Amino acid sequence: MWQFVPNFARDTHNCGCNTVMDNDWLQKDRAYVWHPFTPQLHAPNNIVIERANGTMLIDTDGREYIDGISSWWVNLHGHSHPYITAAVTAQLAKMEHSIFAAFTHPPGIALAERLLQHLPDFGKVFFSDNGSTAVEVALKMALQYWWNTGKPKHKVIALNGAYHGDTFGGMSVAARNAFNQPFERLLFEVVGLDLPTPDNIDRLAAELEHLLEAEDMACFIFEPLVQGAGGMLMYDAAHLERLIRICRNKNCITIADEVMTGFGRTGKFFAIDHLGERSDIVCLSKGITGGFFPLGATVCRQFIYDAYLTADKMKTFFHGHSYTGNPVTCAAALASLDLMEQPETWHRIAAIATTNQEFAEELRQSPVVGRVRQTGTILAFDVLTAEETGYLNSSAIPLADFFLSRNIILRPLGNVVYVLPPYCITPEELQKVYEAIRELLEALADKRL
Ligand SMILES: Cc1ncc(COP(=O)(O)O)c(C=O)c1O
Repeated sequence: MWQFVPNFARDTHNCGCNTVMDNDWLQKDRAYVWHPFTPQLHAPNNIVIERANGTMLIDTDGREYIDGISSWWVNLHGHSHPYITAAVTAQLAKMEHSIFAAFTHPPGIALAERLLQHLPDFGKVFFSDNGSTAVEVALKMALQYWWNTGKPKHKVIALNGAYHGDTFGGMSVAARNAFNQPFERLLFEVVGLDLPTPDNIDRLAAELEHLLEAEDMACFIFEPLVQGAGGMLMYDAAHLERLIRICRNKNCITIADEVMTGFGRTGKFFAIDHLGERSDIVCLSKGITGGFFPLGATVCRQFIYDAYLTADKMKTFFHGHSYTGNPVTCAAALASLDLMEQPETWHRIAAIATTNQEFAEELRQSPVVGRVRQTGTILAFDVLTAEETGYLNSSAIPLADFFLSRNIILRPLGNVVYVLPPYCITPEELQKVYEAIRELLEALADKRL
């Protein structure tokens, strides 16, 4: 339906990002580095980022980009935030790392305590390294719970269209698509439920009741309220609550993968805080350290932990990672929690949510836009194209390049454009992002692109 003109392409020099100064880094980057989620043949040059400050990522030419997607949804309070930097530096001066089995340390203990203050109905925190491992731990924890209690169950229910990470467990419970097709035969079988809508929720509830009657379902995993990488698809808290309640009544463990939605993204501390009935396990990562370091945390209710409190060594949870509970990472997370607990942060979150809501109304008037959706600080819409909506829609790179040419980092999921900014974004910066979107949509509507 539309074509972008080539001057938005990143590997020309028109947007000023790949100049001679960068050449050394770019050549070495091409020679030595394999970047994630990137088709390698004809991959455009990457932008060499040297510094970061607040909402801005700054390249080697000094060009500043508004980080409109919080660097893959991890940054909360701004890049190189001085408060978190100071906490990390202080911890580094004391201890960089120590083993976390048979040994423990104050930052790890304090972080578990602080997370549980925000999840008061939960009992224990298990640390790992990233979002995928937080999910992997949750699945293993739930499956072994049934094994430990002498009632082994092996089946997992997941929402269709999900994304839960790139490890084998994470891939297994995710949508079957280009991300995991080469491994399909090795992935374990999962029972899929459609994303709830007002039209299908009664059917889904009945389907779930039936499944839980008929089969030994160990657990049900979902991204609460927003499916992220699957296309920023949003659904009602009331519908999720209903499904969780059915699982609880039928002894099926529920796992909320809050890797993307946690720490304020949906307007509350956790997405499950929108629910009257909350899950049995929560997976946390991304924003947990304010975007400073990778860290995963799997938080479970006490009854799950209790199934591991046994003299039988075979019932130990034999899972761990070399850097489990790294104290510097925990110090960053504690400092980020300090900032999360400031009323100012919540004013910013509420302000982003309100302006997102207003802009969503405007977007709904555009003839080239479909399915405008918004939950808290996350705003998303489909750019209508002749191709099917989805991650492989060929408009992703031209769209990203259009925004880059306006010094804005948005990284559409195919033709799904979304804004997911750090909470420190100023009203002026947010307006700049909206203005670029307006410009894009007007150009598309007028067929100038
Ligand atoms: C909901 C969800 N779960 C898990 C993951 C995997 O996290 P990581 O990339 O840190 O392994 C992601 C990453 O985007 C995610 O959005």
